[in-house]
Amino acid sequence: MSNQNKTTIKFYGGEQIPVELHKVRVVQKLYLKPIEERYAAIEKAGYNTFLLSTKDIFLDQLTDSGTNAMSDNQVASMLQADDAYAGSQSFYRMEEAAREVFGKHYVLPVHQGRAAENIVSKAFIKKGQVIPMNYHFTTTKEHMELNGGKVLEIYTDEALKIKSDVKFKGNIDIQKLNDVFAKYGKENVAFVRMEASTNLIGGQPFSMQNMRDVRAVCDANDTMMVLDASLIGENAYMIKQREDEFKNAQIKDILLEMCGYADLVYFSSRKVSSTRGGGILTNREDLYLQMRDLLVLFEGFLTYGGMSVREIEAMAVGLRETCDDTVISQSPSFIEYAVNSLDKAGVPVITPAGALGCHIDAMGFLSHVPQKEYPAGALAAALYIVSGCRGMERGTISSVRDENGDDILADVELLRLAFPRRVFTLSQTMFVVDRVKWLYENRELVGGLEWIEEPALLRFFMGRLKANSDWPQKLIAKFKADFGDSL
Ligand code: F0G
Repeated sequence: MSNQNKTTIKFYGGEQIPVELHKVRVVQKLYLKPIEERYAAIEKAGYNTFLLSTKDIFLDQLTDSGTNAMSDNQVASMLQADDAYAGSQSFYRMEEAAREVFGKHYVLPVHQGRAAENIVSKAFIKKGQVIPMNYHFTTTKEHMELNGGKVLEIYTDEALKIKSDVKFKGNIDIQKLNDVFAKYGKENVAFVRMEASTNLIGGQPFSMQNMRDVRAVCDANDTMMVLDASLIGENAYMIKQREDEFKNAQIKDILLEMCGYADLVYFSSRKVSSTRGGGILTNREDLYLQMRDLLVLFEGFLTYGGMSVREIEAMAVGLRETCDDTVISQSPSFIEYAVNSLDKAGVPVITPAGALGCHIDAMGFLSHVPQKEYPAGALAAALYIVSGCRGMERGTISSVRDENGDDILADVELLRLAFPRRVFTLSQTMFVVDRVKWLYENRELVGGLEWIEEPALLRFFMGRLKANSDWPQKLIAKFKADFGDSL
């Protein structure tokens, strides 16, 4: 598998090491503060890593959204931006790049991925309709439900298993998809959604064969297929790595084939092109016309869609760079290195390694912390205290309450450590791996969390919690005993 992976190189001793195939020309200073200051910062942030300030963070692994490194060519392109409300040349350059990379004629620009979700949901979901998909994403689900739709997750039995060697855990279960059409009737299915590198189950890809099978079911039922392409480059890369038919294929051809199966493609450019912004694409004029007026109402005119022209220029370059193996393999290779190192040390992580980040199974890690005390949130706070590294809780705090006010416990409790493209070096990766291993050895010291302030909508963004005992002090005392004055 790894000889296909251009970023991972075999060393003389036999180890496979991810090597940075880029050089660093613009840098940003980082601060690794003493543990007491990190503790004060997480207390102030209500044990919610979203509320930390970057001045208190060493490695920011919250997300890869809007945090991938830009290339020299992207930054250079921003200088030729053409400021115009309508008819900007920057838009036409981006439109040309998007047509080339995704193979779709109509290109609607939006300010970010969730804006695309808003427009797609408004245009194509009627009240009471269902939307089958491999797995939901937080903002996707909210938009679909706001428009009266119901999300049906029809993943395979393997999808939620933490430890697995199944290569395509992001696949849709075709039998379940057929069952959905049989149960609800095709008129009650708004569309079928496939999410590339399925985010919330650990950045897991689907296979090209699965796309073909889903397409066949959509054709048989005269139903539209929608592709969330926010992480399509990584999914294409993993198809190349893991699906025999594609081992000698070029990323650009894999992307075109994937998009070819979808009637409508949308994406967050914060991920796919290492910029900001987003887009919706289709070859079908009827679909384009249903979205066009909504775009002007919610986002802005058709040639900027809420984005700055500078971002649009960088997006054009970034979309083309997504087809470059050395660009698109960098993040998955570093993730694979981190996942394999942690797995070898016995730390429960999602395997096989996927896209976007390394996903630690907090229920396995903190098996003594009940789910209602939010093990993924507690683990995120504990890791920040012992390393200054910021991850993201993807568990019950990111879920909602039912009508009785009880937590709907998440299927999986994950701490996600994102690896934005070409941002961190190997020694930084080794540092976070080391601190996670130390924390695992000392996991009994970590306790749970409880709410202080709990917002009603998307509570994980702004909510505040506290430790439910003096566990942070005990953790800090052990850290100091083991590391002395070292940060
Ligand atoms: N779809 C997927 C698969 C995503 O991962 C995201 C964002 C969106 C849609 C929404 O895009 O943020 O540009 O509005 N994911 C980010 C993350 C927030 O951290 O994983 P957006």
